Amino acid sequence: MYNEKVHILDHPLLQHKLTILRDENTGVKEFREIVSEIAALECYEATRDLPLADIEVKTPITTGAFKTLAGKKLAVVPILRAGLGMVDGIIKMIPSAKVGHIGLYRDPETHRPVEYYCKMPADIAERDVIVLDPMLATGGSASAAITFIKGYGCKHIKLMNVLAAPEGIACIQKDHPDVDIYVAGVDEKLNEHAYIVPGLGDAGDRIFGTK
Ligand code: PRP
Ligand code: URA
Repeated sequence: MYNEKVHILDHPLLQHKLTILRDENTGVKEFREIVSEIAALECYEATRDLPLADIEVKTPITTGAFKTLAGKKLAVVPILRAGLGMVDGIIKMIPSAKVGHIGLYRDPETHRPVEYYCKMPADIAERDVIVLDPMLATGGSASAAITFIKGYGCKHIKLMNVLAAPEGIACIQKDHPDVDIYVAGVDEKLNEHAYIVPGLGDAGDRIFGTK
């Protein structure tokens, strides 16, 4: 149904954890922990194409040539606020990744993204970037963030979400066909408030306990 740029990661662990997030009775602590765990699991797939190099290592038995990461420069860019919940999970896997921040919120009337903050690593143009946001609803926020990051000269950008609506995937594929999307689930539709149905509610509020 989707082309090869859309990676729907339906691993049993991801499906199980996503179901816990959906449950309205899941509290802030558990919600936050699971968003981070999902990001770490998705990171495994999103970094599958990282280049390797050989290094020589002396084991207790002998010496040999073994694989190590070739030192590709990475950055993760969470979309504030909810994207912050995914940073820890990624940084645990890739401790050398730099972190940029982009602040966007959806206007409650128009559902269009409004930018309020941006701070990128100085060498962002030389880095491969993974944009983080748990929710891809209309796709407006992620598309705007990717456009912004491309403005710095970044050439290789991936998008990592927890849950998407078909509308959000269509938006990214139209605006940024070069971007790979990694997501643990794709739901049925958006409701009249542009929330994902059945979804998991407002990810930012559930991560930060603001409602
Ligand atoms: C949520 C979510 C995404 C955006 C997705 O953020 O975290 O950034 O909505 O919707 P879209 O695909 O239709 O743009 P929100 O605007 O609620 O801000 P918050 O993270 O500060 O809660
Ligand atoms: N943002 C959210 O946090 N949840 C949705 O369902 C849609 C946008």
